[in-house]
Amino acid sequence: MLRLSNLSKYFGGVRAVDALELNVKTGEIFGLIGPNGSGKSTTVNLVCGIFGPTSGSIELDGVDLKRQAPHQRIDAGVSRTFQNIRLFDDLTVWQNLWVAWRDAPGQEHSWFSNWFGRSLSRRHEIQKLLEFSGLGDKSNNLAGNLAFGEQRRLELARAMASKPKLILLDEPAAGMSSAEVTDLRQRILTMKEMGITVLLIEHVMELVMNVSDRIGVLNFGTLIAEGLPEEIQNNPLVQKAYFGSSENTSGGDTNAIDQ
Ligand SMILES: Nc1ncnc2c1ncn2[C@@H]1O[C@H](COP(=O)(O)OP(=O)(O)O)[C@@H](O)[C@H]1O
Ligand SMILES: [Mg+2]
Repeated sequence: MLRLSNLSKYFGGVRAVDALELNVKTGEIFGLIGPNGSGKSTTVNLVCGIFGPTSGSIELDGVDLKRQAPHQRIDAGVSRTFQNIRLFDDLTVWQNLWVAWRDAPGQEHSWFSNWFGRSLSRRHEIQKLLEFSGLGDKSNNLAGNLAFGEQRRLELARAMASKPKLILLDEPAAGMSSAEVTDLRQRILTMKEMGITVLLIEHVMELVMNVSDRIGVLNFGTLIAEGLPEEIQNNPLVQKAYFGSSENTSGGDTNAIDQ
């Protein structure tokens, strides 16, 4: 579904993303991990069109996204959440979803109507998203007044309001309690059941190892390993990238995971 070929993004002398090859398949949850500064968020920003690449290509179902503006990529079916929550704090929960809503082309065949059994009006779809995110009783609250975990859930719902086929989650579990992570895991699995493809960037290993179908590991902007969660967990290259040593996996890390 998503194919990144020879993708690079340099910031001056910094090679944030460096000749990256990545292929996310339709319907899977692909976990992307890597130490701080390894280029994970830059990759998301390239796919969403926040930055143009220095070189390389970005294809969604064979369509070249590179020359499309960010809003065109949303229409093409790409959606995201941010590493640092970005909501309209002065709008209500309902309004945050209302402004993000898209009447996707071919909507009658989208996961939304399949999942909910029929085509719904915009108002009903937003109501369903509120229920999905457990915010049904908060629709008139200002987003800025929500608790942290609720804001994260609203971001997730907002990302779904454009009816994406691909959703990019940039560290959605950051700052969450263990119970909230369990809850998030269930929501991500539900997205997959709905038919949404998920690219999950995450430092919380408990989540990424449990929920991903496949995992890729970035280091210095390049994929250094790719495989099933158990393969990645046991890969010495990965342990070296994270901990600076293939033997030492329990501490003294020079390149810590910022949980
Ligand atoms: N807008 C930017 N301007 C300059 N350098 C940037 C910018 N965004 C990211 N970088 C640099 O690119 C590298 C990768 O950053 P990032 O993609 O945020 O990593 P990650 O999300 O894996 O922690 C880092 O060295 C970072 O400092
Ligand atoms: Mg990041």
